[in-house]
Amino acid sequence: GAFDLVIRNARCATAADVFEADIGIRDGVIAALGRGLAPGREEIDAAGRWVLPGGIDGHCHLDQPTSDGSRMADDFLTGTRSAACGGTTTVLPFACQIKGQSLRAAVDDYHRRAEGKASIDYAFHLIVTDPTSQVLGEELPALIREGYTSFKIYMTYDDLKLADREIIDVLAVAREHGAMVMVHAENADCIAWLTERLLAQGHTAPRYHAQARPMLVEREATHRAIAYAELVDVPILIVHVSGRETVEQLRWAHGHGLRIYAETCPQYLFLTAEDLGIDDDDRHGAKCICSPPPRDRANQQVVWDGLESGVFQIFSSDHAPFTFAGPQGKFAAGEKASFERIPNGIPGLETRLALLFSHGVETGRITLQQFVALTATNVARMYGLYPRKGSIAVGADADLAIWETGLSRTIRNADLHHGVDYTPYEGIPVTAWPALTLSRGEVVWRDGQYLGTPGRGEFLRCVLPEPARPKSRPENDTSWRS
Ligand code: URP
Ligand code: ZN
Ligand code: ZN
Ligand code: ZN
Repeated sequence: GAFDLVIRNARCATAADVFEADIGIRDGVIAALGRGLAPGREEIDAAGRWVLPGGIDGHCHLDQPTSDGSRMADDFLTGTRSAACGGTTTVLPFACQIKGQSLRAAVDDYHRRAEGKASIDYAFHLIVTDPTSQVLGEELPALIREGYTSFKIYMTYDDLKLADREIIDVLAVAREHGAMVMVHAENADCIAWLTERLLAQGHTAPRYHAQARPMLVEREATHRAIAYAELVDVPILIVHVSGRETVEQLRWAHGHGLRIYAETCPQYLFLTAEDLGIDDDDRHGAKCICSPPPRDRANQQVVWDGLESGVFQIFSSDHAPFTFAGPQGKFAAGEKASFERIPNGIPGLETRLALLFSHGVETGRITLQQFVALTATNVARMYGLYPRKGSIAVGADADLAIWETGLSRTIRNADLHHGVDYTPYEGIPVTAWPALTLSRGEVVWRDGQYLGTPGRGEFLRCVLPEPARPKSRPENDTSWRS
């Protein structure tokens, strides 16, 4: 039959190819790619513009309950709206287990939070904080089978962190049942000791957050996580890598043939520790408090190099939204709260793609294909959403972003669609932004207007992540069976 929509003259880029084609869309799916396709009931002329797979944000926090009186500024309505306006068509937020809670209860709770609100598609990573024998033996294997095939574990934060033995146990479940484990790698005891000393010296301002979490705490924990992954023989993914010392650990692991994947985020390219404040009177630094903290310009360069050279497979926002003002925001613990009582996290869902496109692709640091891989294709492969998501191919969902380039704009929070009263990227120039975002063939963002409908976003069940697929072994080597 006829197409519902045809996008004409699209300059398409995937993780592998660049080609020009008309894109024929039927029932939300790409039905044909070719020249001179039959007319659609609707037509969009892309007229030589780049048409890319919609972004997949593999790491964001939406409506996640907190334990310190703060409250996340984005739920699934404002979060997915903001994502769509920045060219993202799939988000992977977290269903976080509260210690003492069953994983199943956590998952049910997050489905209720998303229901009727999401305007683009979503899947859930789990956060495992309480790996009881019930969780490890029954709940987690059952949830993996049901389409929750990735989970995050924490090596820091008192209410989230696992003991080392628990980490090993969780990795073993991932190996046995086929799942991807994301690791927040920071050494909790080092942070606690440094924090205590800073506070005892009266160093309470936001900027001391960075001093309480120097890169060695990230480097050490990353090394430990890599060792446990090697021990259990399972791939893992180190999230939000901030700079050189952790990149060195990743390179070391790659040199030893270990399957260690890694993610980085805009804050490690565009912010430095100075954004946490240059003196003790600067409360605005709280706007950039996230963990690991941003480092310095030399480390930004190392992260750029890692994106170019393949150390990183995924570029996510780690959107963790808290307002600057207001009783549930960054100063929920009081106007003069010391740095360790300021909620960690910064917004970035809407700005992620434009920042990397403008400062990565348009400057020639990375290729357009690398951009697509880092922001969509690899994310889909790593978390079991490929090939439905993450590419431009016949049979894939028609999740697309049509890009406008040659702009001279600056990022302004007033132009964004999240629920946060600031962006840490205020004033940064961008030369590209999506002019149109298509989610399963429906326009959700066009020429500066949000057109999404809350509730139209679908929950996605994830299949086995590609790196977790069983490896084929030489016929005569049976040692791996033991
Ligand atoms: O500071 C951060 N990154 N907050 C979000 C939670 C996390 O650890 O990713
Ligand atoms: Zn984290
Ligand atoms: Zn200030
Ligand atoms: Zn996070």
